[in-house]
Amino acid sequence: MRASTNELLHAAYGQYALGAFNVCNLEQVHGLFRGATEARAPVIVQFTRVMRDYAHPLMLEQLLRGAAMIYPNVTFAVHHDHGDEASCADAIESGHYSSVMIDASHLPFEQNVAATSRVVEMAHRRGLAVEAELGQLKGVEDEMSVEGKDALLTDPAQAEEFVERTGCDSLAVAVGTSHGAYKFSGSQRLRLEVLAEIKRRLAGFPLVLHGGSAVPRDEIERIRNSGGEFDSSASGVPEGDLSQAISLGVTKVNIATDGRLIWTRVHREFFRDHPGEFDFMQPGRTYMKDFAGFVEGKCRSLGAAGKSPTLDHSANPSRNHAAAKPGASASLAKPSASSALKSKRKGRREHPKFAAR
Ligand code: 13P
Repeated sequence: MRASTNELLHAAYGQYALGAFNVCNLEQVHGLFRGATEARAPVIVQFTRVMRDYAHPLMLEQLLRGAAMIYPNVTFAVHHDHGDEASCADAIESGHYSSVMIDASHLPFEQNVAATSRVVEMAHRRGLAVEAELGQLKGVEDEMSVEGKDALLTDPAQAEEFVERTGCDSLAVAVGTSHGAYKFSGSQRLRLEVLAEIKRRLAGFPLVLHGGSAVPRDEIERIRNSGGEFDSSASGVPEGDLSQAISLGVTKVNIATDGRLIWTRVHREFFRDHPGEFDFMQPGRTYMKDFAGFVEGKCRSLGAAGKSPTLDHSANPSRNHAAAKPGASASLAKPSASSALKSKRKGRREHPKFAAR
């Protein structure tokens, strides 16, 4: 069942975070939807600009139409991750997405405000939500790369001004994580004090943690033992830090690297142990199973397990096929995310952006 990104974010705020998984092939899509089914967790499916170029936007859309039919109990939103203005426009026009991210964080503040505002206007006209970014994460994702010297933590006062001026719906903040498998060096950790100050200024406003992969030591060791060349400083975000981040307003945690590490380990081990094999379906089956297990476990640790609204099958007895239409957003069964949000908002100091709605 497709759902609105905004409804999912607001239902989760302050209680749990949504896993936002970057996927772009059928094994990953099966694994993601199986894992979400097992955990009964709502998830966000993400396609970056580079993934859309790689697989073709239509291919990705069709994969999700299939997934919606095969796994009818999964509540999911479709998000365009790390877009530029052109790819956001394309995703918005396609009618297939519930939200887009405009990543103009590499631009000076005023230009970031201007680019984000243009995308917000375009997206809101069509009922989509917009994630923007302020500050810059270091690391490599797809073909995008930011050197450590160019990384910038989000300035909390600027974040408040940015949200007010752009009207964006959620904000990706740079609080010490980075994309890829080398997130922290030495004793570096997530900068929870920066997050706390952003939350103080933007209470009730959903924050997004990019670079949310855990980079498990065990995966790295297995990849190394099967010929991979990771050095031992590879490290990610510990689970304990994620739960603190959730209490500080992080409502969406982006994960790409962990899924790729599992892919690398499965295939390296398979071809090491079966040098005469060439059937992609054998390691493919193992990947789907292991990725599903990973997604299920991640949803549990983010507190999202069991939070999927149950489908009202009586409204659509034919296995919810209608929900697979592009742009279609099946209504959530009661209690709806938005009503849960309204009651949750009562009595809390809120960001004026929400109070006005
Ligand atoms: P990881 O590299 O930690 O998986 O981060 C992915 C991400 O932030 C996608 O936008």
